[in-house]
Parts: sequence; structure tokens; C-alpha cells
Amino acid sequence: MKNTITLHDLSFEKFITKTNVQHAVNGVAVRLNEDYRGKCPVFLTVLNGAFLFSSELIKKFDHDCELSFIKVASYEGTQQSDEIHTVMGAEPSLKGRDVIVVEDIVDSGNTVETIIKILKDEEVASFTIATLLYKPEAYKKPYKIDYIGLEVPNDFVVGYGLDYNGLGRNLTSIYKLKESTMTNLVLFGPPGAGKGTQAEVLKEKYNLVHISTGDVFRYNIKNATELGTLAKSYIDKGQLVPDSVTIKMLNAEVEKNADAKGFIFDGFPRTEAQAEALAVLLASKNTGVSGMVALEVDDEVLVQRLLERGKTSGRADDADEAVIRNRIKVYYAETAILKGFYEKQDKYHGVDGVGTVSEITDRLSKVIDTL
Ligand code: IMP
Ligand code: MG
Repeated sequence: MKNTITLHDLSFEKFITKTNVQHAVNGVAVRLNEDYRGKCPVFLTVLNGAFLFSSELIKKFDHDCELSFIKVASYEGTQQSDEIHTVMGAEPSLKGRDVIVVEDIVDSGNTVETIIKILKDEEVASFTIATLLYKPEAYKKPYKIDYIGLEVPNDFVVGYGLDYNGLGRNLTSIYKLKESTMTNLVLFGPPGAGKGTQAEVLKEKYNLVHISTGDVFRYNIKNATELGTLAKSYIDKGQLVPDSVTIKMLNAEVEKNADAKGFIFDGFPRTEAQAEALAVLLASKNTGVSGMVALEVDDEVLVQRLLERGKTSGRADDADEAVIRNRIKVYYAETAILKGFYEKQDKYHGVDGVGTVSEITDRLSKVIDTL
């Protein structure tokens, strides 16, 4: 089975193999067989999560026993709340019985506490708690957890009965939520600001993958990929390539570099809709945009730089001052929207873009190191 899986909007990585889950179940079963010799306990399974653990545990139980089920609810998504309510009570009465409570996981202990209260009200003869997983760092209650399959750190886990918003219960291994350590930069700079130069330096320095949207488009069109051909069909008609196509190309680039420590997005996003799509794309990798870094250079400096470059580069759009000024204007019109978008999230960082290459790199690094 795969090592990384996605459930809804989150990715999870394999944490406890199927074999080790089986060992944990066996360990609990061996102890129960010893401790309940000569008794006929009731296994009280806490639904829904414990159903898988309990069904395998009971198959390994060698003595007479009965089954009962109880359902309580406390979780929303990956966040737990203190509100616990009984959705379905134990049937028939547990009065005078030896009860083994079967849990998938004991986290804060709120569920266990609720169930113990119910058992006391029912006047059971005795009870023990058997759980597949136990989070010692999260547990805050005084009750003894008698049988523990495995102790786990305080991370959100799924699989083998445990779910994230309903999904993941059927997995035979246990997976844990993947935390992001990626640095994802949205790099901006007006024409002539030295963005390309800095992207090359930052990419090496921070071990990031540079995704230039222009390059991605050219690559896909040149190699006539499915998406490239689709994009070309719009370009040939003189239309803008729809965001959905651009996002798919970007998604493919991100997928190609699944192990990247982060990305430098260059030439993207251009619109708020694209910025939102990028957020969704990165959220599916449990990460997000770390910051928008924009090189700031005075217009007059830019014009002079570009005219200078035009003398040697042979680029027609660098030779004409009016064309240059218009390109700068277009840049600011586009950027303003995104600047606002990221400013609202405290993610906009303007960096002085006048100086030597290494001076500017140092300024950028100071910002990136805090992200
Ligand atoms: P407690 O009441 O905090 O001990 O949590 C017990 C219940 O919360 C379990 O029976 C699960 O349904 C759920 N739960 C706690 N931690 C996790 C987890 O990491 N993944 C999925 N469900 C969990
Ligand atoms: Mg549960």
C-alpha cells in the first residue's frame, strides 16, 4: 500500500504497518485471555472507531464472552471538543457484569471518562479499558488504561477504524498527518528588477524548485502535452488560457517534484482567483504560500536599466521607453491585487531591489529566514 495518502484536503504518511498493528492486537488478546480465564465478560465496543480492533480482538479471545456496543461523539475534523454525548447506549443491561471497554484510541480521555460514568451508573461488577492506541501526552484523566496496544505521540492518526471526517477507517495500516516544512515563495518584481537573477540564487541557496509559469507553458506547448495542446488552442484563438488549465499545469510541476523542500513561483499567481487556486493546491500537500516577496525598484531606475539592457539584448521591448513604461504600469496594476491578497494574510514582504546582486540576496534572505 502507498506510503502517502490523501483524505479530503489532507495528506497522511504511513506510520504503523499492518504487521505492527496485528502485533499490537495480539498483545492485548494474550493478556485478556489470561486475565479473563473462567469469566464471561461483555466486550463493550465504542463505535464507530473501535469496530475493527474489537472484531479482531474478539476472534482471538478464547473464553465465553458477550458483545455490546455504545456510541459517543466528540470529534469534528482533526479537532477534538470537550462536548461528549451518547448517541447510542449499551444494550442489554450491564448490571453485575465484567465489562471490557474496547476503544480505538484514548486521547484526552474524555470519552473514557464518559463511559466509566455510564458503567458506574449501570452498577457493573468490574470494568477494564482496552485500547489499540494511547496518546500519553494528551491523556489528562486519572483512570488507569489497563490494556494498551501501542503508545503513539500526540499526532492525528487515521486507519484501522480511525477516521478523518469519515474517511480512512478501512485502511489496514495506521497513517499520521503529514506536517509541512516547506518554504513556498511567490516571487514578484517589475521588469528589470533582477527577479530572474535572484530566483536562480535563491533556488540554490534554499534548495527550492523554481517554477516559472512562462517556462512551464513553453515546455508543455513545445512537447505537445495534453495540457500544452489545450493551452495552445486558446492562445491560437487570441484568448487567455483559463486559470483551470494553468493550475493543472502547475499542479503537474508540483507533482513532478513531490520531494521538494519548497517552490519559487514566478509569474504566478496573476489574479486573486489564481492565488486562491494556488492555496488549494498547496493545502492538498498540507502546506501553503509562506510569503510573497516583491522586489521594489524605483520606476526611473527600472527605465534606465532596461534601456541599457536593450542596447545589448536586442529585445525590442527593451528599446522603447514608452513600451517599458507601459510594462511597468501593467506590472503594478497586476501586483496591487495580489499585494492586497497576501497583505491580508500578513504574507507580503517588499524588499529593496536596488544594489548589487549579493546585497539584494542578503535582504531577501533576511525575509525568507523568518518565514
Ligand atoms: P478522547 O475522548 O480525547 O480520549 O478521544 C477519543 C476518541 O476521539 C476516539 O475514540 C476517536 O474517535 C477520537 N480520536 C482521538 N484521537 C484521534 C486521532 O488521532 N485520529 C482519529 N480519531 C481520534
Ligand atoms: Mg472513537
